[in-house]
Amino acid sequence: MEKVLFVDDETAILNLIQRTLKDKFDIHVAGSAEEGLSQIRDNGVFPVVVADYQMPSVDGASFLAEISRISPDSVRMMLTGHADFETCVRAVNEGNIFRFLTKPCPTDVIEKFIHEGLRQYRLARMEREYRTLKQWTKSLGGLIEAFIRLIASKDPYTAGHQIRVSQLSAAIARSLDFPGEAVEHITMAAMIHDVGKIYVPAEFLNKPGLLSPSEMNIVKMHPEIGHDILQPINFSFPIHKIILQHHERLDGSGYPLGLKESDLLTESKIIAVADMLEATSHHRPYRPAKGLDQAIDELRDERGVKHDRRIADAAISLLSGGKFQFEET
Ligand SMILES: [Fe+2]
Ligand SMILES: [Fe+2]
Repeated sequence: MEKVLFVDDETAILNLIQRTLKDKFDIHVAGSAEEGLSQIRDNGVFPVVVADYQMPSVDGASFLAEISRISPDSVRMMLTGHADFETCVRAVNEGNIFRFLTKPCPTDVIEKFIHEGLRQYRLARMEREYRTLKQWTKSLGGLIEAFIRLIASKDPYTAGHQIRVSQLSAAIARSLDFPGEAVEHITMAAMIHDVGKIYVPAEFLNKPGLLSPSEMNIVKMHPEIGHDILQPINFSFPIHKIILQHHERLDGSGYPLGLKESDLLTESKIIAVADMLEATSHHRPYRPAKGLDQAIDELRDERGVKHDRRIADAAISLLSGGKFQFEET
């Protein structure tokens, strides 16, 4: 039950409220503004606070104004037998009052107003959380841009590869009707999926010809390194896990953990398909480009074995149907 605080110097009213509403809300009562403030200190935020206007020492308007300062999320209502214009204006200006209740107020009306107040409280809290999340996502977007610039300064090939992989990953997710937020997460993860390569010596990444097994083992560490770089950052989605799994394959033949289909995140499966198509169709330091047709043929062979069938089909349809083209960066 949600907490509601009633502040009134008339004990009979507080008793009536407690008796009639105690099964519907977690009712707390206080006989004065000072007592009301100590209830807030002891019990934390009250979603709804109702105060009588006429109280000795501190009146309801001043009390609710103080509540708006110390507990801005609480929805404030005023109970008054003196609903004159000046009282209302002062209360609204100082305490941003949600509703006025005129004494004597039937308890069913009070109950209805409390429900409205609780709805308002939840709405305001959701709005604030959404704003915070937006702000946070914006700063994480800046962090991702910093990673992209860092990679570009060391390894321009990987920077271009990541952009193309993110564009194809987003197109696949959209064609599979993923919601906008999920598309955004996949795009962000794909933009930095090879961030772990900043720890791989540049001569390995740019070596013309095949890598030795020991060099290859170092290159293959990049998903785990990317995971370790991103894990401590508090993203709203598991970007570190998506990146960890981008070289895993459905049949367990991938790396670093040899995970199988049921363990893999859908986001990782999408990036894996886009990554494979981009890498196969483009030039790599150790081999010339195989071209898009060969990349699509290889994916057809691997669909349902190494790569998710539905995701592979979506990618093939986008590329062979001319609905998506890799941009050269
Ligand atoms: Fe990779
Ligand atoms: Fe990659």
